[in-house]
Amino acid sequence: MTTVLGIETSCDETSAAIVVDGREVRSNIVASQFDLHAKYGGVVPEIAARAHIERLDSVIEEAMSVAGVTANDIDVIAVTNRPGLVGALLIGVTAAKTLAWAWNKPLVAVDHIRAHAYSTAIEMETPPFPAIGLIVSGGHSSLFHIKNPTSIELLGATTDDAAGEAFDKVAVILGLPFPGGPWVEKVASGIFPPGEPGTSVRAEVGRVPPADVGARRDSRTSDPLFGLSPWLPSAPLGKGGGDGEAGRASPTSAVGRAVPTHDARPGNPHAIDFPRTWLTRDSLDFSFSGIKTAVMYHVHGQGKTSGGLEKLSPGELADIAASFQQAMIDMLIKKTMLAVKRTGLKTVVLGGGVAANKTLRRALEAECVKCSMQFHAAKMAYCTDNGAMIAALGYHQFIAGDVADLNIEAYPSTV
Ligand code: KG4
Ligand code: ZN
Repeated sequence: MTTVLGIETSCDETSAAIVVDGREVRSNIVASQFDLHAKYGGVVPEIAARAHIERLDSVIEEAMSVAGVTANDIDVIAVTNRPGLVGALLIGVTAAKTLAWAWNKPLVAVDHIRAHAYSTAIEMETPPFPAIGLIVSGGHSSLFHIKNPTSIELLGATTDDAAGEAFDKVAVILGLPFPGGPWVEKVASGIFPPGEPGTSVRAEVGRVPPADVGARRDSRTSDPLFGLSPWLPSAPLGKGGGDGEAGRASPTSAVGRAVPTHDARPGNPHAIDFPRTWLTRDSLDFSFSGIKTAVMYHVHGQGKTSGGLEKLSPGELADIAASFQQAMIDMLIKKTMLAVKRTGLKTVVLGGGVAANKTLRRALEAECVKCSMQFHAAKMAYCTDNGAMIAALGYHQFIAGDVADLNIEAYPSTV
């Protein structure tokens, strides 16, 4: 039995977990920072790093206490050291190195994206590999051939925005709260942020976020549309994406845009034919920047970046959210099935923060069933960032002899 402490601080979640033999999760503590970043409309790297410093000790203590383990019971310490915000990563890496030295334990350096790929196997008796892995998060969108937990080949990736980034930016265009992805899904199904009808929807007109606000991982591109948007939602969503929650959000969470909800209805995913970008015919890469711009011009008018939102009814907003979501899902599924065809593999797995999107989960599963493929999505708790996936993959790296020394550093990009 090998007990691993996993530490994750690559972006805006401080997390630690205790996992046994790469499969059995004894604890998985996640301290989200949504409240700290909400008023800026995106993750502020300095604030994220400071919050990790303040929270990491107690998050690790809680993970150990919930799992009922002491330092003596821990065999390995695994930590995310790439990709991510370097200042944020450094907090976890420094803590892990310190504990490995003080407790005299082996240290394992884990790649965050590969851990998302492995998260699809957590708590499974037999890992579902080999498989095509569609791994979609706020900073990356990748198609992998996952041969086994430690052997993963990249088949395709985004050429511009990540899938989660596109959801987050469309949420900003629609005036939805941060983090936007889960709210786009809710609005698409007719569930709106709470607020008084007629409340000012323009939270911070004219306020432009600091240059690096919204930074996530290494794929975040500089984006004039995003930077110029006057829509900066002003208050947090109580609970983050991937919570599997149904129904209306807590009425206590005020948001940037309030809409009358009496005529709210689920959006029609075919109401607007937003462009799907395929790149070359047989490309396994993604491109999501065009669809984001198309949503911007649909809302505000061609060539405009503001002024149209207040004219839209809740039903029209729901149609935009649903049509955007459908276009994203179409692109993700088509490329995934192309990868399946090319490799001849019989299993598809889905992971990363965007895998918390239930419409995507259902659609990809339906496509796999239609094509007689096996499908497996990461459990909701392991879609968005978490320490369990770091500990779980860390176990397999340790067993494979991939042990780091105390000189490891933090890197912004994946390998
Ligand atoms: O994996 P993750 O927690 O962080 C990164 O590694 O980036 O993914 C966060 C991303 C955010 O962009 C968030 O908006 C998106 O996942 N996300 C969703 C949903 N839940 C989280 N996107 C669409 N629908 C959701 N339900
Ligand atoms: Zn992630």
